[in-house]
This record gives sequence, C-alpha cells and structure tokens, in this order.
Amino acid sequence: MSLKQRILEFFKLKSKVTEGGGQQAIQKQMAMGKMTARQRINELLDTGSFHEYDLFVEHKAEDFGMNKKFLAGDGVITGTGSILGFPVCIYAQDFTVAGGSLGIAHARKITKIMDHALRLGLPLIGINDSGGARIQEGVNSLAGYGEIFFRNTRASGVIPQISVILGPCAGGAVYSPALTDFVFVVDKISKMFITGPEVIKTVLGEEISMEDLGGAKVQAEISGNAHFYAESEKECFEQIKKLVTFIPWNNQKKADKFPPKSPRSNLLIDQIMPKDATQPYDIRDIIRALCDDSDFLEIQEHWAQNIVVGFVRMNGETVGVVGNQPLVLAGVLDVDSSDKAARFIRFCDAFNIPLLTLVDLPGYLPGVDQEHAGVIRHGAKILYAYSEASVLKITIILRKAYGGGYIAMCSRHLGADFVFAWPTAEIAVMGPEGAANIIFKNEIANAQNPDEVRKEKVQEYTQKFANPYRAAANGYIDAVINPEETRDYIIHSMYLSQNKVDELPKKKHGIPPF
Ligand code: HXC
Repeated sequence: MSLKQRILEFFKLKSKVTEGGGQQAIQKQMAMGKMTARQRINELLDTGSFHEYDLFVEHKAEDFGMNKKFLAGDGVITGTGSILGFPVCIYAQDFTVAGGSLGIAHARKITKIMDHALRLGLPLIGINDSGGARIQEGVNSLAGYGEIFFRNTRASGVIPQISVILGPCAGGAVYSPALTDFVFVVDKISKMFITGPEVIKTVLGEEISMEDLGGAKVQAEISGNAHFYAESEKECFEQIKKLVTFIPWNNQKKADKFPPKSPRSNLLIDQIMPKDATQPYDIRDIIRALCDDSDFLEIQEHWAQNIVVGFVRMNGETVGVVGNQPLVLAGVLDVDSSDKAARFIRFCDAFNIPLLTLVDLPGYLPGVDQEHAGVIRHGAKILYAYSEASVLKITIILRKAYGGGYIAMCSRHLGADFVFAWPTAEIAVMGPEGAANIIFKNEIANAQNPDEVRKEKVQEYTQKFANPYRAAANGYIDAVINPEETRDYIIHSMYLSQNKVDELPKKKHGIPPF
C-alpha cells in the first residue's frame, strides 16, 4: 500500500473512533443540553492544542456479548493540550459510548494520562460523564476505579487536579473527584451520588429526584462537594480557564506572575466599613479593595458562606485569601467553614501560594448542633492547616478577633509571619458584653441599678481590651496600621519574604484531625 493509501486508511479508522457512540447517542446527548466529550475538550483547550493519545485502545471483555461490541476509544478520550498557554493533561468520558461506563481499558487510559501528568508535573483535568463501573466487566471495573483513586491520592499536593462533573458521576466513581482539588458542577447537568434514587427507594422507601439528591445546586450549596457552580458548560469552561491562571503547574513551581494592576479606585475601605462597629459588611468588598484589578476568584462561593476563600493577585502574584464574612452568621467559625478554610489553606501551602487572612469574627458558633456535629474535631482542622503551612502567612485583624477565633485565624501564635491590625481591631477573650456579664456578675447583681453598672463595666472592658493595643504591647501584632495602608503592607511583606525558609520537623506525615 502506498503512503497515501495508508494515510487514507488511517483517517478512516480514526473517524470510526472519533464519532463516539454514533449519531443517535450524540443526538440524545445534545437533547439533554450536553456537549459531546470532543466538543468539551475543544471548548476548554486552546484551539488546535489537543493531542490525543490511545485513540485505538479497545476493551477485551467477553461476557454478556461484550466480545461483539465495539466501544469507540472505550468511552474515554485522553490527551494533552493547553489552556490560555498553560499545558495540561486531560481526559473526558464519552457518555455516548456505553454511557461512559468505566471498564478496565477505559480506566487504564485514564491512569496512563494521570501518570503522564505526574511525571511531567502538569495539572490534570478530568471531565466526568459516566454511568459508573461497567457492569459487564465486574471486578475489573472496580479495579480500574481503585487504580484511579490510588493515583489521585499519590498526585495530591504534587500537581493540581481538577474534576469537571458534566453528567452522572454515580456510585464509587464520585470518589475520584472527591480526592481532587477542585470540583466544577453545572446546573441541571451534573449529578453526583453514592446511591441513586432507585436504591434509596428500595432501601428507605423514600422518593427523591436525581437533581434533589445530588444535582449541581445540592453539591455547591449543601454538601460542599463542589467548588465552582456554573449555569452552563460554557460558563464552567470559562471558570476553569480563570482558575488555571492562578495556580502553578506543580508543587515545585510558583504560579505565573502577571503585570501588576491597582484595585478599582471606586472601592475605598473607609466607605465599605460601616461607621457603627456592630454593623456587618461584605468582606469580599474589602478583598476587592485590596487586590490587583479588584479581581477575586472566589472558591466554594455558595457553601459555608460565613467564611470566604479564593485567589487574588497582589502586585501580579497569586495570593490565597481567607476572610471571615460578617454578613453571614457574623463570620463565626463552625464545622463547615473550618473544613472549607482548612482545605483551601492546605492547597495554597502545597502549591507555594502565600496566604492572606482577614480577621473579623466573634469566635466559634455555640450550640448543641455544632458540638454534636464535631466542631471540636472540625475546628481543629483550621488550627492544624495554618500551623502546618510554611508559605508566607500575612494576617490583618480588621475588627473582632475574639477567643478561639483570634487564635485560629492565623494568629502570630500559629506562625503568622506578619500580623497587622487596624485601629478598629478588638482582640480579646470574648466580646465586652459577655465578658462584663461574667467577670462583674456579682457587682452587677448586687447593684441598685444593674443596667447602668453593666453598661459601665462593658465600657470599662471595651476600653481595656477591645482594641489592638494590648496585643500590640505584647508583640502579638507587628503594627497597628491605617486601613488605607493595608495593600502597601501586604505587598511589602511579600517583597521581604521571597526567600522565606520554614522547615517542618522531619516526619513521614502528620495526622490531621480529618
Ligand atoms: C454498563 C451502562 C452503565 C454501567 C449506563 N450504561 N451505565 N453500561 N455499565 N454502569 C449504558 C446503558 O446500558 C445504555 O446503553 C447507555 O449506557 C446509556 O444509559 P441510559 O440508561 O440509557 O442513559 P440515561 O437514561 O441517561 O441514564 C443514565 C444513568 C443510568 C442514570 C447513569 O444509565 C444508570 O443509572 N446507570 C447505572 C448507574 C449505576 O448504578 N452505576 C453504579 C455502578 S457501581 P445502551 O447500549 O442502551 O445505549 C459503581 C461502583 C464503583 O460504580 C465503585 C468504585 C469504588
């Protein structure tokens, strides 16, 4: 055969595979408002950058008529490409081929691209759209999942791993995304659950739709499994593109530096902060008033909203921000917000991203629910994550820093490199009202005019402790600063810390309060 004939034959074979599960299945996919796996890859990656591997891999299953079934690419597309010029490894499950179900050949294509990503130090993106373990392949399918989970775990903290849920992600399959760093979901398209509605109906006799059980909103707002929520696949891909620009390729690198930009001039701290110190404000406005171009990429925006986490740039460099949100539950720490912050802190630490902590909280949330939900164990995660983090840690105390909340929010005592406080900071064991009621209990009770005495005692406590100067006198904060100087202090601290060295004691690994 001539070269020309060989090439023609190659294109014929290739097109048989690239048309996936055939026109009928593709029409069904599109009727559900979903792109095909190939469309998704093309939409996400830079035009023409995709290089596909293992196109001709075929399954070797024999049972249940599988020996007669051709499954294009075994239901998954794998390869490399770039996003806005950042190289990535990628796989996309193809639901048009046997429901994107995972057999051993399918799994091995995924584990091969995962190994590639780990070896080359590149981010891994997995697009999930699958009915789960391929039932006809039995234990081989389970083995495939196990091999993926193993690699997800081994790659954790070495390369960034991004999971995109664009269809069902059912049964044990959900544990691969759960082991990765960022999970993206899309309204009406993403469905994640361990046991589906049928099982729930059989076992518990309860009827629930797939959407209400594990749809995108559920994962983004209630369970906290998802980090980014989008209305459409296109919006989701834009979110991924943005995220990729903030993070490094791997744990040996720093995120790329961008040209510095000033915050928007209409965002002024003294206009954002309420005159009355008891009034709430949106911490995201403060973040935007401090960062380059007022551009804040929030993570887990819709879950545990009493804490806000995400990426910004300061003078062109990526910074991870953790801030209490006075708008929601006065910004208290609780079970979910501790989990949210701790995980984010660990991502930043693993990937050389400096941490900026903005403090304004009355402490941990009191209540039986929280105690029984394990606020001790979950709350400890944030202490652990901050104490363990060896990246640059800058803390700004804006207003309240009470009790355990003061310690937990990256205080000097947990190894903050720089702690600055605004003149409005109140650093104390608890709020003046609560403190006065406890330590002057008898005086107030025995007074002829208890309300007046209580007021006096609250004032006395406020003057003595509800300010930054006691902490400053003890060296627990480095400087009381004019809020307008905050950005300058942050950028200067980053400039000073380029060669920061902080070695943890030698150990195999710590044992965080998971
Ligand atoms: C083999 C599967 C499959 C699977 C779907 N298909 N899931 N084939 N193994 N797990 C096939 C269907 O037979 C069908 O093939 C095609 O994919 C499309 O599926 P439909 O059911 O027609 O699509 P839809 O109505 O959209 O429903 C999608 C679905 C449903 C909700 C995902 O297919 C479903 O419930 N699948 C099973 C989900 C599940 O229980 N998975 C868990 C497996 S156990 P044809 O040839 O007709 O087009 C598991 C454990 C892993 O995953 C443990 C790891 C630790």
